[in-house]
Amino acid sequence: MKHVYQYAYVDGVAIKRSNMANIAVTDGMAADAVTKLLDAGHEVDLEPSSLDGFDAVVIRSATKMTPDAIAQAPNLKLIGRAGVGVDNIDLDAATDAGILVCNTPGSSTQSVVELTIGHMLASTRHIATADRDLRQGNWTKKSLRGTELSGKRIGFIGFGRIAQGVGRVARALGMELHAFDPYLPAHVADAENCEIHADVADVFRLCTHISVHCNLTDETHHLINRDTLALMTGIGADGTDCGNHLVSCARGGVVDETAVLEALNNGVLASCALDVFEVEPAIDNPLLNHPNFHGTPHIGAATKEAQQRIGFEMADLIIDFFNGTTPNSVVNKSVLIE
Ligand code: MLT
Repeated sequence: MKHVYQYAYVDGVAIKRSNMANIAVTDGMAADAVTKLLDAGHEVDLEPSSLDGFDAVVIRSATKMTPDAIAQAPNLKLIGRAGVGVDNIDLDAATDAGILVCNTPGSSTQSVVELTIGHMLASTRHIATADRDLRQGNWTKKSLRGTELSGKRIGFIGFGRIAQGVGRVARALGMELHAFDPYLPAHVADAENCEIHADVADVFRLCTHISVHCNLTDETHHLINRDTLALMTGIGADGTDCGNHLVSCARGGVVDETAVLEALNNGVLASCALDVFEVEPAIDNPLLNHPNFHGTPHIGAATKEAQQRIGFEMADLIIDFFNGTTPNSVVNKSVLIE
C-alpha cells in the first residue's frame, strides 16, 4: 500500500499521519469491522500488551486513557471511543499530545433507549423481584402489585438523543415529559412535547419517575442526591400513590449511590434501577442487597445491532482519518489541513 503522509493540527500542534496505521483494539470490536480495517490495509491488534508503537487505539469504557497511559503511547494520533461517553479519556492530555479523540455518538441510541424502558417497566411491575421470588419457590402474587407508567410524569436529567428516544416511548405509554437540560435549545424540547425546567429541583418536585441521561462532569456529579430525591412526592399526575422511581443507564457518579440506598431504605424511593455504577464492576455494591433495587452490568450498548453499528462507524472513521478526512465526531477540537 502506498504510504501518503499528511499533516493535521490539533489545537495548533502539527501531527504527521500516514494512510496505513497500526491499530490497537483494547476492549473488543465487531469482527466485520475489524475485517473492514484489515481490508483497508491497516494492521489490527486485538490483544495489545501496551499502546507503544500504535497509531490509533479503539477503546470502550474499560480502558482508561489517563495522562500516564497517553504518555506511554508516543505514536498515537487517534483515540477512537467505540461508544458515547469519553469520561475515561483525559481529553486535555490527549489534546496536549496532539491526539484526536473521536466517538460514535449515535450508534447505540436505540439500544440504550430500549434498556431504559426495560428497567422502568421492570421497576414499576416488580419483574426482577418477582423473578427472584419465583426462583426461591415463592408465589408472591399478592405483594407484587405494581403501578402503570401511564398518567405519570417522567423527568429527564439531560435531554439528548437517548432521552428523546425514551421520551417518545414514554409518551406513547401515556406519560408527561419534563426535563432539566441547560444546554438544550428550547425548540428541540418543544418538538418532543417536553417541558424544560431551568431549575433541576422543579423536575424532582413534579415527577415520580426520573431517568438520567447526562454525561458525568463536575457539574453533574451527584446531581441525584439526598436533597433532590427528597423533593419527590410519590404521587403520580393521575393521583396514584405510585412512589418514586429512579433509572440510570447513563454514567455512574451522576447518582449518589449512598443517598439512593438511604432513600430506598426510608421509602423516599420505591425503586431504583441502574446499569451504570460509581465503581465498575459493581460486584460488592450494597445496593445489590436491597429488594427494591435491580441492576445490569453496564449493558446499554450491548446489543448485536449497536455493536455492529459502532464497529462500522469506528472503522469508517479510522479509515477516513488516515486517508486525510476529518471525522464528524471529533471530541477535542482540531483543524485538518488537506
Ligand atoms: C457508552 O458510553 O457508549 C456506553 O456507556 C457503552 C459502553 O461504553 O460500553
